[in-house]
Amino acid sequence: MSNIINGTEIAKIIKDEVKKEIENLQGKKPCLAVVIVGNDEASHIYVKNKNKACEYVGIKSDTYFLEDTTTEEELLCLIDKLNNDDNVNGILVQLPLPSHINEKNVLLKINPLKDVDGFHPYNIGMLSTNSAMLKSCTPSGCIELLKRYNVEIKGKNALVIGRSNIVGKPISMMLLNEDATVTTAHTKTKDLEYLTKQADIIIVAIGVANFLKPHMIKEGVILIDVGMDRYNGKLCGDIDFSCSKKASLITPVPGGVGPMTITMLMKNCLIAYKIQNNTI
Ligand code: GUN
Repeated sequence: MSNIINGTEIAKIIKDEVKKEIENLQGKKPCLAVVIVGNDEASHIYVKNKNKACEYVGIKSDTYFLEDTTTEEELLCLIDKLNNDDNVNGILVQLPLPSHINEKNVLLKINPLKDVDGFHPYNIGMLSTNSAMLKSCTPSGCIELLKRYNVEIKGKNALVIGRSNIVGKPISMMLLNEDATVTTAHTKTKDLEYLTKQADIIIVAIGVANFLKPHMIKEGVILIDVGMDRYNGKLCGDIDFSCSKKASLITPVPGGVGPMTITMLMKNCLIAYKIQNNTI
């Protein structure tokens, strides 16, 4: 059997599970409100893909395109309106926001029960006590890939390289919740190679092309690559793919973690819908 994790295939399986569950819902379908401010090209591509996934699984998606001159107050006002709209189950504000808008204020404003990104400090806190229902999408996509490939996480030495609020920190908490022994490495970590050689599972989320090299890892390690980088113009991840010769499992870029993010968002929309309908 191949040691390459097929994220596209797993994402499709989960989307079909969500689609089936939505088909069986009585009454109104779940609704996701997506807010995008300005003209960031990558953000517009993300939003288009989100809308496509919503359509596939049967979630209604309302997208709010706001000018890059929108003030923080205007954005907060829209979020307030969406928070109070019973027809809206999930709210997602596409990041990054223009520099004149304080991202923290915006994320704090979203009703935590509609926070399908899992970025609200309430949901992060719930994650830290292993009681979150809405967990951020990329980290939960990584865990889901491990589980669907029957990887036993319990008791493993898991190393997370990167400590961002969006990926590194939440994934470290999720691995801890799965009973792994977790180390989080970052730019100030001393002797990273010592840590990478001890690890049974390594998740890399730093945005540095081909950072993790074969000489840094042990035979049989499981490698999850959250990076989306370019090297000589070609799309690649944070893990040098020649590590696949030593790894027992590895995610490719593209086609690994990437397709899981939007899929887990669809799953979160369904969870948010159930929370609001008291059916969870
Ligand atoms: N920008 C890039 N990725 C994401 C994401 O997962 N959520 C939001 N809200 N913005 C993003």
